[in-house]
Amino acid sequence: MNNNSLKGKVALITGAGSIGGQGAAEARLFALEGARVIVTDLENSEGAKVAADIGEQAEFVPLDVTSAVAWAGVVAHVVAKHGRLDILVNNAGIWLAKGILDTSPEEYRKVVEINQTGVFLGMAAFAPIMKESGSGSIINTCSNAGLKGGGMPLAYAASKWAVRGMTRAAAWELAPFGVRVNAICPGVIDTPMIHGGPEVLDMLAKLIPLGRVGTSEEVARLALFLASDANGYVTGAEFVIDGAITA
Ligand SMILES: NC(=O)c1ccc[n+]([C@@H]2O[C@H](COP(=O)([O-])OP(=O)(O)OC[C@H]3O[C@@H](n4cnc5c(N)ncnc54)[C@H](O)[C@@H]3O)[C@@H](O)[C@H]2O)c1
Repeated sequence: MNNNSLKGKVALITGAGSIGGQGAAEARLFALEGARVIVTDLENSEGAKVAADIGEQAEFVPLDVTSAVAWAGVVAHVVAKHGRLDILVNNAGIWLAKGILDTSPEEYRKVVEINQTGVFLGMAAFAPIMKESGSGSIINTCSNAGLKGGGMPLAYAASKWAVRGMTRAAAWELAPFGVRVNAICPGVIDTPMIHGGPEVLDMLAKLIPLGRVGTSEEVARLALFLASDANGYVTGAEFVIDGAITA
């Protein structure tokens, strides 16, 4: 990739207001590659700082991905300011380390609302704009938990399997309009979502064939390929980035 692979493109990333998170890394890399980046996250996140650190190519727009009304407001803002959206990364998500024996209905619904319905609402909000322009790249953040059930928390796995399913369905539906839809399935990535510090990361690293956890920057580089014009023909696919743990 050169430093201009996203020149002229407008990208929106959800959940990008976590310093050290995958969304923030994607925002930084996309801007470096020439895109204008709309960093979105909850109002009380570090999104304003992430955007300020990137500079004038980025702006922070608060967005709770579970709110259809909020998505409509963001669409109006993006259309008024840029007239287009080329790249949508549905990255926002939460983790819940509980199984069927200890997940409450409220906890289940909350995980599904953010990880699953949030992705649906994002695609539903921006697909008409991309369809109209005849191009676009949507990248949905799935997980290893969307590839297997064993060892995975119940609500989280359910939400990520749904992301995989809707990625494929939307790819099929939007392909005739030049819009690509793909999913990234990270394994263990060193972000604020993985609490516990170096000891936990070392313990997890021992389970991974590559011998280490992944980084946000590595996930961002995969997202960059899917977002850029270097990817012309890949759509409806899942990309595992996990050091071979599910191999
Ligand atoms: N870190 C990992 O090991 C790992 C592995 C597989 C998949 N993932 C997925 O990658 C994505 C990014 O996670 P991360 O590791 O960077 O975690 P992170 O906790 O650093 O970032 C997640 C962001 O999502 C935001 N968010 C939560 N609820 C939201 C809502 N309702 N609306 C908008 N934003 C909301 C948070 O504020 C946070 O900034 C998530 O979808 C996660 O499930 C992470």
